[in-house]
Amino acid sequence: PKVIFSGIQPTGVPHLGNYLGALKQWKDMQDSSHHSDTLFFSIVDLHALTIPGNADKLRRDRREMLTSLLAIGLNPERSTIFYQSSVPQHAELQWILSCTASTGYLSRMTQWKSKLSTLTTQSSPPSQQPDPTISSPALKHGLFSYPILQAADILLHRATHVPVGSDQKQHLEFARECVTNFHSSWSLTAPHSRIFPSPRTISLDTSSRVMSLQDPTKKMSKSDPNPKSKIFINDDEATIRKKINAALTDSVSTTVGRIDPVNRPGVANLLEILGGFSGKTGQEVADEISGDSLAQLKMLTADAVIAGLAEVRDRFILFGEDTEANRKRVKEIEDVGTNNALMSAMKTMKMVKEAIGLS
Ligand code: TYM
Repeated sequence: PKVIFSGIQPTGVPHLGNYLGALKQWKDMQDSSHHSDTLFFSIVDLHALTIPGNADKLRRDRREMLTSLLAIGLNPERSTIFYQSSVPQHAELQWILSCTASTGYLSRMTQWKSKLSTLTTQSSPPSQQPDPTISSPALKHGLFSYPILQAADILLHRATHVPVGSDQKQHLEFARECVTNFHSSWSLTAPHSRIFPSPRTISLDTSSRVMSLQDPTKKMSKSDPNPKSKIFINDDEATIRKKINAALTDSVSTTVGRIDPVNRPGVANLLEILGGFSGKTGQEVADEISGDSLAQLKMLTADAVIAGLAEVRDRFILFGEDTEANRKRVKEIEDVGTNNALMSAMKTMKMVKEAIGLS
């Protein structure tokens, strides 16, 4: 049986990248899962603390993410949906893993390196590699050890399959490295003594990296301040159409032609998005409509996004309303989710503690 685990940070309503890259897969895996499989989807609020914020905003964002996960079609009777911070074992296992994780590996992670270079550009000469010992007060340890907490999330539930967008591939490779390091440091190398399975990355070939509508060389990102760069899963029809019509394309040709992500990244992105809603690759879509104008491509893409998100948007409104019934339902989902996740966590921690001499 599979154990499927994934997480999302509560940092605003998910966008099309989150949806096509990850959330749609969560729902599809849930619906096609075997009854002996278990599924965990976590709202990773501890990870969200790496973005310094505001308590009331985080409270709202957590609740809004729960609404979003129900809106995309997760069924709380089938999938365990829970807040990471409700299960303290995530942080406990993180510490244990951090004792066998390599700082060298962590310092080579792209997410850390890009943060480092944006935060230290003023203090280090441009030609030089950013030096983490340059003390920038903005460089926090939580950001450095972020991948260990992510590995702990996955390992705590002994997950076998992790559906994510392609930007998370390096983090998952690190999680597998944590499995190896942990087992070898504690001499748990015989097959029967290993505690953690090596988690597999489940990523789509297409739409695993949806790009910004305004700068198609960058990924669509929650932290992009330009709202026109992304489509939210609860955007209405008119907004979706407006954003797609305003998407940056190019003047290489007025027709779609062949897919060419290097020279025509904006067009390729629209083709991938269009394909993402019909289970086709961008290449296949391009072959079908190569003679169409870019205006037609935008129209087709907007139609597909609107149709593909219609149910999601309806459910978002339904579950997001602040009614007595919704408050009760949310409370129940939170309680059940916490209990299921706690049970799974306690089982693993018992094995871990026995294996390393903490019991
Ligand atoms: P987060 O919250 O940034 O994103 C959630 C999911 O959305 C995917 N994604 C994208 N996919 C395609 N195109 C894009 N432009 C795009 N932007 C985001 C991400 O790949 C992700 O699958 N570190 C994780 C959260 C996490 C996690 C975990 C994931 C914490 N613990 C354990 C898996 C397992 C993150 O920040 O995702």
